[in-house]
Amino acid sequence: RALANIPPGPTPWPVVGNFGSYFIPSFIRNRFGRESGSVGDMKTTMGILKQLAEQHGDVYSLFVGNQLLVVLNGFDAVRDALSNHPEVFSDRPDIPAVTILTKRKGIVFAPYGPIWRRQRKFCHTTLRNFGLGKLSLEPCILQGLATIKTELLRLNEESRGAGVDLAPMISNGVSNVICSLVLGQRFHHEDPEFRTLLGLMARGLEICVNSPAILINIFPLLYRLPFGVFKELRQVEGDITVFLKRIIEKHQETLDPGNPRDLTDMYLVEMLDRQTAGEVDSSFTEDYLFYIIGDLFIAGTDTTTNSILWILLYMVLHPDIQERVQAEIDDVVGRHRVPSLSDKGSLPFTEATIMEVQRLTAVVPLGIPHMASETTEFRGYTIPKGTVIVPNLWSVHRDPTLWDNPDTFNPSRFLDDQGKLLRKECFIPFGIGRRVCMGEQLAKMELFLTITSLLQAFRFTVPEETAAPSLTGRFGLTLAPCPYTVCVSTRG
Ligand code: HEM
Repeated sequence: RALANIPPGPTPWPVVGNFGSYFIPSFIRNRFGRESGSVGDMKTTMGILKQLAEQHGDVYSLFVGNQLLVVLNGFDAVRDALSNHPEVFSDRPDIPAVTILTKRKGIVFAPYGPIWRRQRKFCHTTLRNFGLGKLSLEPCILQGLATIKTELLRLNEESRGAGVDLAPMISNGVSNVICSLVLGQRFHHEDPEFRTLLGLMARGLEICVNSPAILINIFPLLYRLPFGVFKELRQVEGDITVFLKRIIEKHQETLDPGNPRDLTDMYLVEMLDRQTAGEVDSSFTEDYLFYIIGDLFIAGTDTTTNSILWILLYMVLHPDIQERVQAEIDDVVGRHRVPSLSDKGSLPFTEATIMEVQRLTAVVPLGIPHMASETTEFRGYTIPKGTVIVPNLWSVHRDPTLWDNPDTFNPSRFLDDQGKLLRKECFIPFGIGRRVCMGEQLAKMELFLTITSLLQAFRFTVPEETAAPSLTGRFGLTLAPCPYTVCVSTRG
């Protein structure tokens, strides 16, 4: 370390690196101990990373096997790397399991460069257009919420006081938004095609993050094993491929270039335009479209679903804040009209509450890993080309030098003396820099409409004779609350 001038850090074990000394014991505890079934518990992992920052500083290094990782702790270090040195720190690492599944195409795991830039620019602009005009997603989100409200009441009644698990309903609603965006259609939550797609995606993710298939990252050849989860992973991947390819084919057969129905149509039109213009090495191909659709489902469903579940959980645990949000909605929207995006600017306390939960929970707590695309000097250290960079967003949101009592839930920290919303630079649940979340606007729209619609209609409480749900999250692909149930009553 000292010779190479890389950032300081704990001494790694041979072969397995620091993953051995810190994370394997924690993994075993979570997998086989009292909390078995979860990949890792948030307190342990974040506690370890915090302790390491206290010992080694805001830029420290770890080894996973012989791969060097540099963890960025706190806002200054994260901003300095991702915003002030974007040309060096915007690449993505080649993670074997991810590379096998994505071929490093699409957007999320694509290498930083001209192809990623063109694909992202096209998708970003298209997503922005979905906020406006006849392709607006607002009616689609509201339609989904109407179904959720009816379902919630039915299930609540059926539960006879035991409460309802909100997760399946919220997840269906959020997935349907991506279906409308990408496939141009919503599905009934019991539609067999919809169930198949969601089931395959969920199983694929489960295998990737919570099964021995994780070892593919150390021994890539395991992917080829003809048994167990490895075989199942290939089967699931094959089924998703068939499913998405059929959707692209259907779109091609029915495409009307003057009247695009969704992002897939727009992409196909862009492909045709580029072919007509004689672009020889255009990266706009059906193959890319396939991986982009996969990216939007993966990046846009788990993140948004878990954010909504966290916000509702905080509302159940803080009835006073829930009532304050409801009072604001009653004042501005009333009880007889469904809240709309145009109400956003008039509901600062509601917005502040959503932001405060996002701050405390940071559903993508360690961001998506970046990679140094060349050897560089950073804050007095040498960061070799190929180093994996981990921006610890959780640490940014809990930094006591930036936030008063950072562990306390206090929506008012996002309001000024007049009750107006404060924008804080160090609030970065969607990341920062060139790789900042591409779906930020869509996600904010979904969070706002879902929370205002549900809190306008219902009061959420902990079921009687049930212990209050825990705020300890579970690491999977993103940070999810542990399963909880709530009782729902209609408001007046
Ligand atoms: C990337 C957060 C919803 C699409 C990211 C990153 C974060 C994030 C932290 C990594 C940024 C980085 O690498 O530095 C969130 C949160 C969401 C959310 C908290 C919900 C509350 C969505 C939605 C979509 C989406 C709804 C799409 C429909 C993407 C894509 C990337 C990304 C494509 C990769 C960007 C790139 O590599 O250029 N998101 N996200 N996200 N997100 Fe989101």
